[in-house]
Amino acid sequence: MFGIPSFFLFFFALSMALGLINDWSYLLWVAPLLGLLPVWRKIAFFGASDKRIAVAGKAVLITGCDTGFGHSLALRLFSLGFTVFATCLFPDGEGAQRLRQEAGSSCRLHVLKLDVTQDQDVAEAKEFVLKNMPENGLWGLVNNAGIMLVGPIEWISFDECKNVIDVNLLGSIRTTLTFLPLIKKSQEQYLQVLEGYWSGRLIFMSSTFAFIERGNIFYSLSKNALEKYGDMLRHELKKFGVKVSLIEPGNYALATNIMPLHTIEQFWNKFDEETKASYSKTYLQSFVSYMNNQRNNGMHDSKEVIDAITDALLSQRPKARYLVATFREKFLTYASYYLPGFLKDLLFFA
Ligand SMILES: NC(=O)c1ccc[n+]([C@@H]2O[C@H](COP(=O)([O-])OP(=O)(O)OC[C@H]3O[C@@H](n4cnc5c(N)ncnc54)[C@H](OP(=O)(O)O)[C@@H]3O)[C@@H](O)[C@H]2O)c1
Repeated sequence: MFGIPSFFLFFFALSMALGLINDWSYLLWVAPLLGLLPVWRKIAFFGASDKRIAVAGKAVLITGCDTGFGHSLALRLFSLGFTVFATCLFPDGEGAQRLRQEAGSSCRLHVLKLDVTQDQDVAEAKEFVLKNMPENGLWGLVNNAGIMLVGPIEWISFDECKNVIDVNLLGSIRTTLTFLPLIKKSQEQYLQVLEGYWSGRLIFMSSTFAFIERGNIFYSLSKNALEKYGDMLRHELKKFGVKVSLIEPGNYALATNIMPLHTIEQFWNKFDEETKASYSKTYLQSFVSYMNNQRNNGMHDSKEVIDAITDALLSQRPKARYLVATFREKFLTYASYYLPGFLKDLLFFA
């Protein structure tokens, strides 16, 4: 109702009525009008602008809480007062145990098993959520579980390729289809110029690698597809008040377990004779060094990423995309997206 198109329609209609528009001259004053956008937003969102959603009685389900971002996020949301369904691949593993210890006797942090590739796990998790949901329902789903896969295309077997897509893309789709009906029902009334409501939040962990593909094609492909899925959902769910955000972290390899150090043997031993003959050990050595250097340059602290996810869950007007990256990573992301093919090849693959 109060978006940018309605802003322009309003001024267009006003100008027509006042006889200001009779040729293309309106293009000359459209630009200055842009300056009025913040004022318009203040009016439209009067009383709501900088407030956050109330946390009490709301729940969030996170996938992949054994380690990394998911683990830290579960603890952050628990400390903020959410009821957290922290789902783990290994519910008896170290990460899951640590979460249980943090929860103590509280019944707001639930640790449960969920392998996002398994229909049965997702169905059981839904049943558990339905039985243990607080009064304001399931406010958010954070599709965080993910795995990394590196190597030139020829080195990756079909099964490895299927696995990364199954976890990173199909896993997120599986959980979204299962929990979306609950998210739509979790509503928060608001009073602005007109009264309305927000429904819950859907969050997807994408990556700057969704746009920069270098030695990690199937990871990149899975994240790029997730970007498209998230974008489409954002449009389709707008009428239900559900907000969809994509989180695009840069390289946080040292803050999480996503990218272990690689060894030459790990690749060489799985090569068949033909691959061994066409790729020398020297080439393999340079690839492994490049990947390990990338990893060692990663950030140590995931706080900014957790802040971004928290904002996407709590802000009354969350962003469609949170690009949480260094200046260089942001530059490369935009360059990869906007540069013509030959310049992109020069920049990335020369
Ligand atoms: N770290 C970065 O630099 C970075 C950058 C951009 C995007 N991301 C994305 O952020 C998300 C979280 O990754 P992270 O960096 O925190 O790495 P992480 O520490 O490896 O965490 C990933 C989590 O997903 C879990 N997982 C793996 N397969 C699963 C499955 N089939 N079902 C359910 N859970 C599964 C892992 O469990 P186990 O530990 O038990 O295997 C782990 O807890 C991923 O989607 C990743 O692609 C990370």
